[in-house]
This record gives sequence, C-alpha cells and structure tokens, in this order.
Amino acid sequence: MPIRVSRKIYGAIPMAKSKHKSIFVCTECGSRQLRWVGRCPDCGGWDTFSEERIEGVTEDVHRPELLTVESSPVLLSEDIDKFRDGEGMRFSCGILELDRVLGGGVVEGATVLIGGAPGIGKSTLMLQAADKIAGSGRKVAYITSEESTSQIKMRAGRLGISGENILVDGQTNIEIILNHIRKFQPAVVMIDSIQLIYKPDLPAAPGSVSQLRQCGTELVWLAKSTGTTVILVGHITKQGVIAGPKILEHIVDVVLYFEGDHHHSHRLIRAAKNRYGATNELGVFAMGDRGLVEISDPAGLFLQNGSASSSGSVILCASEGTRTLLVEVQGLTAPGSLQALKRKATGLDGNRLAMILAVLERHCRLKLSNKDVFVNVAGGVRITEPAADLAIALAVAGAYYDKKLPNGAAVFGELGLSGEVRPVSLPDNRIAEARRLGLGHIIGPAKNVKSKNSKNTPCSHLQDALELLY
Ligand code: TYD
Ligand code: MG
Repeated sequence: MPIRVSRKIYGAIPMAKSKHKSIFVCTECGSRQLRWVGRCPDCGGWDTFSEERIEGVTEDVHRPELLTVESSPVLLSEDIDKFRDGEGMRFSCGILELDRVLGGGVVEGATVLIGGAPGIGKSTLMLQAADKIAGSGRKVAYITSEESTSQIKMRAGRLGISGENILVDGQTNIEIILNHIRKFQPAVVMIDSIQLIYKPDLPAAPGSVSQLRQCGTELVWLAKSTGTTVILVGHITKQGVIAGPKILEHIVDVVLYFEGDHHHSHRLIRAAKNRYGATNELGVFAMGDRGLVEISDPAGLFLQNGSASSSGSVILCASEGTRTLLVEVQGLTAPGSLQALKRKATGLDGNRLAMILAVLERHCRLKLSNKDVFVNVAGGVRITEPAADLAIALAVAGAYYDKKLPNGAAVFGELGLSGEVRPVSLPDNRIAEARRLGLGHIIGPAKNVKSKNSKNTPCSHLQDALELLY
C-alpha cells in the first residue's frame, strides 16, 4: 500500500524522517507517493508521476519564510472606496493589446503566468513590455534564465530599446534573484522562464514539480508582500498547457496563453484565468522584423479578399471578448471510403463538426455518410464559440452542392439538434463589423437579424439558410 501524504500546497511532508532517497510526485496536482503509481490517487491523472530525489531535505525548505511574516486581520469595509474601481492599483504596460487581456492594465502585486510554444515571441513581448514600462518611469527587472545577458542586449538592440531603467539578470538561483530584487526594488519583475529557476536547498532538478512549486510560491509571496508585479514566462507541453504542476496555475492571478503558428505572422494572446478581468478577451499582434506590432483593428485581418468567392467558402462573424473577427470558414466534401471516412476540423471543434454533420444529414437530407468532410478556418485562427455552427453547416452544404452564397454574405448563428437556428451574443456588434467591411447581407438567427432590410436573411431553421444555396 502506498503511504498517502498530505497534498496541501505548503503542507508538511514527512520527508526528513523518511528513509527513502527519492519520492514520486504527481506533475498535475503535486501529490507525493513513496512508490510509483500509474494513476494518481488524489487527482485521478494517469501516468503523471515523476521521480524526485529528496536526500537531505528538511521540512523547513518547503515553507517560504515570507509565510511567517506578522499580519493582522482587517475589516473588509475599511477603505473599501479606494479599491472600488481598482484605479490606482493598475498601470498600463504601454502595449494596449496586452493591457486588454490583463483586464485593463497591470495590477500592482499581481502574478501573471504567460505560456506559449517555443519561438512564438514570449521573450520578445516581455522585452517590449519592459521597455514601455521603463519608459513610464518604473523600474523593471528582467531575469533571464534561458539566454545570456548579451543575447538579451542583442535582441534589445534589434528592437531599438534603450534599456534605461531595465536591470537584466542572467540568473537561475531563486535566492540570488530575490536578493537582487530586494536591492533593485523594481515595480515589475519578469522571469523568463520559470522552468529553469531553482532553489539550491532542493535536490530536485529545475522544472520538477518541487522546484516549480517552491520557486513559484516564493515569487508569489514576493509579489503579495512588496506590491511588485511578477510576470512568469512558462513552457508549454505537447498538449498545449503550461508545463509543470497545476498548482502553478492555481497560485498565480492571471494565466495567459500566446497562440499562433510559424506559417502566419499574427499572434494572439488569450487569458485562461484572470482574477482582475474577463477571460474571453483577445490581444492581437503581428510579428515583424522589429518585434511584435499591435493590431488594434483585427476585424478583417483574417479575410483574404474581403468576401467569400468560391463554393464551400463562408464568411463568419465571430466574436472574441469585446471584439468581432471576420474569418473565412472553408468546407470540402469528397467521396470517401466507407471503412475509413475522414472528418477533419482545423481551427474548429471536431465534436461540434460531427454534430453539425448529423443535423445536415438528418434534417436537411444531405447524404454525407459516404463522404470525407474537411472544414478549415483560413488564416490559422481558432474559433471555439457555438455561433460558428451556421457558417460551418453552410460551408459543408456549399461544398456538397457546389454552390456559392450570394456576394457580400456574412453568417453567424448557433444550431440546435433539430436544426433550429438559435440566437447568439452581441449580434449588433457582429452586424456592424460585417457592414463596416462591406458585407451587407447578414444571414443569422431570426431573433438577432431583422428582415426590415430586405437584403438580410433571418433564419429560424437551417433550411431557411440552405435555400440561399439552391
Ligand atoms: P522569442 O521571443 O525568442 O520566442 P520565445 O521566447 O517564445 O521562445 O521569438 C523568437 C522568434 O521571433 C524567432 O523565430 C524570431 C522571431 N522574431 C522576429 O521575427 N522579429 C523580431 O524582431 C524578433 C525579436 C524575433
Ligand atoms: Mg524565450
């Protein structure tokens, strides 16, 4: 029987008394076991245990000293007016697209974790933000654990950054980093990346669960106790989530993901968690030869020629946070082999596509059961909202019948299982953006789209929209 030990974040773990020289730690929840187990008894994750050496560890190193700082409880009502709108505790990082995903600016004393694929532009963004923050008179410490200080200087030179008020520290030892921070007293600390930071008292390797938990906790406590904002850059796993224990995501205030691919220049930042703002906001950038450039009006960014031109191509009015994006959804159907039918969705949810194909087959008499179906959002952007359903259905049907939608058509709407077209959020924004980009024929839910303008097509059932194709 494996001995179950505490899974609390700062909990006492009977390591010092243990005769074992190593312990197995769940990379998802941080649960500790004396033997390897296939399934974590705490979080249920499969194959999540990794071995860590614990030789010579005492309990004390697992408790950040800052936890024991004297504190006194305060009344919630005390000075509450000062905090009502959060003004005064927030400042702009000088990059509006980043401010937007942060919920309106950087919050003092907050910890932000930003993850993304290698080479996506995390370090570039950090350096550009450091430059803007330093330009507003605040001190920034940029701790680089992956690159040398001269590499950072080279990048800064290329980006045209003067570097005043920015301290660059090529260091991986958390204790030395904390000493430097106490001495320099910056307003913002950037750690690029947290996976290589280590505490020498812990025998585990940098990037291991113990190291990430310990260093992460110490940095969070630094932020909370001094009001310094800490921005951590994190690696992601093959599955696209931040590498390391989930605890890291739990203890920070904001988790951001940097998306995009190497074949396109645009980069998107989304918030997965935000204690200070909405999580559905989107920051849009383009990577150029002088770093990341903000795109303040991304509505038509993903449209190639402004209008859908071929059969199976539909313009969707998608909504991300407070902004509308017009994207081209492309469908293709081809005869397939019954034994191995292919259904592929790129930039869309595959389960949603399966449901839409079933609705087309069952309620609109499309015979798709012997066809391969491919649906793709052009431009490499990912759309997750159900308001894309109607556009996906029209793209597949357009490809099936080899018919085009009328010129200047833009589509949005959610589909129910019986083929009914359901209303979606922010219809007026979607219609207004489509019009602004010259798409005057809106095909959408009857509850959202008015027929007063004879050019629009309000639909209560998918069949109403398909009629435009016949
Ligand atoms: P980087 O910020 O180092 O990525 P990360 O820290 O996420 O690994 O970005 C590296 C990529 O960005 C690299 O492929 C080169 C490209 N890049 C530009 O295209 N223009 C630039 O001005 C800079 C600085 C980088
Ligand atoms: Mg980097």
